[in-house]
Amino acid sequence: MDVEGEALVCIDCGRVHKPGPGVLVCEKCNGLLEVSYPKSVFGNVSFNGTGVWRYSSLLPKVDRIITLNEGNTPLVKAENLGRKIGLRNLYVKFEGANPTGSFKDRGMTVGVSIALKFGQKSVACASTGNTSASMAAYAARAGLKSFVFLPDGYVAAGKLLQAIAHGATIVKVRGNFDDALRILLSHSAELGVYVLNSVNPYRIEGQKTTAFEIWEGLGKTPEFVVYPVGNAANISSGWKGFIELKEAGLANSLPKMVGVQAEGAAPIVKAFLEGRGEIEPVEKPETVATAIRIGRPLSWKKALRAIRDSKGTAVTVSDEEILRAQVELARTEGIFAEPAGAASIAGVLKLSREGYFKGDDTVVAVVTGHGLKDPEVKIMPYAELVIQPDENPVEALRKLL
Ligand SMILES: Cc1ncc(COP(=O)(O)O)c(C=O)c1O
Ligand SMILES: [Zn+2]
Repeated sequence: MDVEGEALVCIDCGRVHKPGPGVLVCEKCNGLLEVSYPKSVFGNVSFNGTGVWRYSSLLPKVDRIITLNEGNTPLVKAENLGRKIGLRNLYVKFEGANPTGSFKDRGMTVGVSIALKFGQKSVACASTGNTSASMAAYAARAGLKSFVFLPDGYVAAGKLLQAIAHGATIVKVRGNFDDALRILLSHSAELGVYVLNSVNPYRIEGQKTTAFEIWEGLGKTPEFVVYPVGNAANISSGWKGFIELKEAGLANSLPKMVGVQAEGAAPIVKAFLEGRGEIEPVEKPETVATAIRIGRPLSWKKALRAIRDSKGTAVTVSDEEILRAQVELARTEGIFAEPAGAASIAGVLKLSREGYFKGDDTVVAVVTGHGLKDPEVKIMPYAELVIQPDENPVEALRKLL
């Protein structure tokens, strides 16, 4: 469909909405919205500068950009890990290197700039941690008030500290993320806040730039891109990005999208593997990877579409596999991911054991958040020696080798 100017189009019924601060979901059917650009935009794409706004010809128009120079994250060839599992072209896109330590910054630079364009004074989100950390930082920079709704006791210490440091008002919900999001969405109008959860279609626009950077960094489209999946916005945004590269005549192929969920919070993987059209929400999601501890993923429909349309796959990983992958990545490649961020690596390890990839496939694992955010040591074996100030450590250290 062609649209005049930027429009918000319902992914279910196709209704076209004029953008505005009160437009979050379809006014007719409550479906999720997507930013659509006129066809002319795709004939006129040029990339300039660095980071997310390098791709502004494929981003919404804003009046003032609120940025922390997000994006332009390292695309690292994981030769050591790749060799161990028989993948000659394994890459890590390390989103933990963003300013607040996760991929959410890509979405927030756009979302908060749009909040200003719409004349908003305060922003809010429900969050498993990273969204709140990122939103609070960008809101601070924009001079906006921020409210974050968090599942009490299930947000990693570093993320909570970030939201506090950037001045957010913290609402602790005695429930899980799904409860926090439900409460926020049902009271946001009354509260007068602009919601920056991924239901907000502008967030996805910023996040799709990961796809652009992967394509530019490799000089081609990879065969596979592997994402950890929680609320399912990021994998959906990546797919939108790759499709737009093709539509702009830049890329000539599309990757297969692979979604990884934790065993205790895997409604999308289950629906995919069972070939069902709808997900069955998980009432009590559980995983050590708190960032993806989500039972009712908002963008499940977009994500299932991305996985199916791309002929990709979806896989669950256990908490133990996630924590092993975290250590494996840190110790073979020097990249420290938070548990949810390492879920993509756990997925790659599992799928390669199952023979899913060919040895020369180019596989990019998106590692979504930094390990420093979640400082509780889980199962990390390590060598340690305790000594007195006058003790020579050499003999004891030799024994440890
Ligand atoms: C580190 C990390 N990885 C993955 C995800 C999942 O992303 P999405 O909710 O877009 O599926 C999140 C979401 O909070 C996250 O913080
Ligand atoms: Zn609709």
